[in-house]
Amino acid sequence: TANQMWGGRFAEGPDAIMMAINASIGFDQRLYAQDIAGSRAHAAMLAATGILTPSDAEAIGEGLLTVLSEIETGGFPFRTDLEDIHMNVENRLKEIIGAPAGRLHTARSRNDQVAVDFRLWVRDQCDAAIEGLTALMRAFVAQAEAGADWVMPGFTHLQTAQPVTWGHHMLAYVEMFARDRSRFEDARRRMNECPLGAAALAGTGFPIDRQMTARALGFDRPTANSLDSVSDRDFALEFLAASSICAMHLSRFAEELVIWSSAQFRFVRLSDKWTTGSSIMPQKKNPDAAELLRAKIGRILGATVALFTVMKGLPLTYSKDMQEDKEQVFDAADTLMLGLAAMTGMVGDMTANRPMLAQAAASGFSTATDLADWLVRALNLPFRDAHHVTGTLVALAESTGCDLPDLSLAQMQGVHAGIRADVFDVLGVENSVRSRQSYGGTAPDQVRAQVARWKEILA
Ligand code: ARG
Repeated sequence: TANQMWGGRFAEGPDAIMMAINASIGFDQRLYAQDIAGSRAHAAMLAATGILTPSDAEAIGEGLLTVLSEIETGGFPFRTDLEDIHMNVENRLKEIIGAPAGRLHTARSRNDQVAVDFRLWVRDQCDAAIEGLTALMRAFVAQAEAGADWVMPGFTHLQTAQPVTWGHHMLAYVEMFARDRSRFEDARRRMNECPLGAAALAGTGFPIDRQMTARALGFDRPTANSLDSVSDRDFALEFLAASSICAMHLSRFAEELVIWSSAQFRFVRLSDKWTTGSSIMPQKKNPDAAELLRAKIGRILGATVALFTVMKGLPLTYSKDMQEDKEQVFDAADTLMLGLAAMTGMVGDMTANRPMLAQAAASGFSTATDLADWLVRALNLPFRDAHHVTGTLVALAESTGCDLPDLSLAQMQGVHAGIRADVFDVLGVENSVRSRQSYGGTAPDQVRAQVARWKEILA
């Protein structure tokens, strides 16, 4: 039988395979709350502008609440033949309230309907991401506060570079996640315009009040161009782009956790809650949550590429291609929220192995730069010469199998006669980090100042 929504023009119903490729109810039922909120705002506006009678609008508004509770209590009969959430809700409304249901779609199209539903959904996800990121930042700040002066090696090329503080390393991630948070805030601000009332694409001849529906749904204003309103998915792309960058940050710390929790590093102990054992190797404690977080970026970035590929080259305005936006965004959002929660838990529960960090910080000639700087300050050597002298001392230490502070003064003076005993002061890692007082540097005082700043921001 022909479709009841557009059956007037159709003699035959769709092929079963057409239904399978065309129907979106299997996934867009997640938009039910947004769809009903949008319809209720639309109906109220139609009544306020005299387009609907108050009694019809009342019946529609009440009926939609019944539909909402049916869906939320699991009693709603979702039907694939009704294609999507919009038609499922409207059809059920008709079963409940009868004829007035047919007036709800006045001055509206599924094109602006889906645009408003999806925007509302993505807007909620921005809020969830902002909240998740705030919790994660707090967990990192707590770690930073506890270990503002714990020394550890800083790396470049994953080779020991200079000693840094644990707190400084933790706060590096707070900076990243703060940028992520501001990206979601920006995206939210930009997407907060209401496309409802664009109708199919050209607007409508009915005297609707778009300000009213925009306000009712918490938007800052209605969108200004009806063609753009129904063809724009920038808001979803921005959400995905922000999610991808955030997931990339998660993957970087996840990788550090995998490395740090290994027997070769032993920088951190992950709690039992975030690790798994092996069914054959009794000693194992595998960092599975961290490994999965390292990998989740694949799905989120994949979703981003998928939606860009869908949108690229689409002529204005709506095309059914755009129905492919939802599953990607749903999966990316679910993945991101789960990832943020998992990372927050893991960071909160992890324990730094201070003795191991300190030992690692002091090895690998980590204070070679401090030695070169001392030669500049104490002996007024040009930095390039100081670098060369220090390199010679590192080579000497390496060939004798010791670290820089283990060389004798005589051995050092053999390389440069001007070196004095106070050089040993700068070869200690504690002094090294304490000296790095430049703004944003790794000195514990600097870290404490940044911790205070973040605690205020995150309060
Ligand atoms: N299910 C559709 C989507 O997700 C709703 C909009 C359909 N509009 C249309 N003219 N076929 O995009």
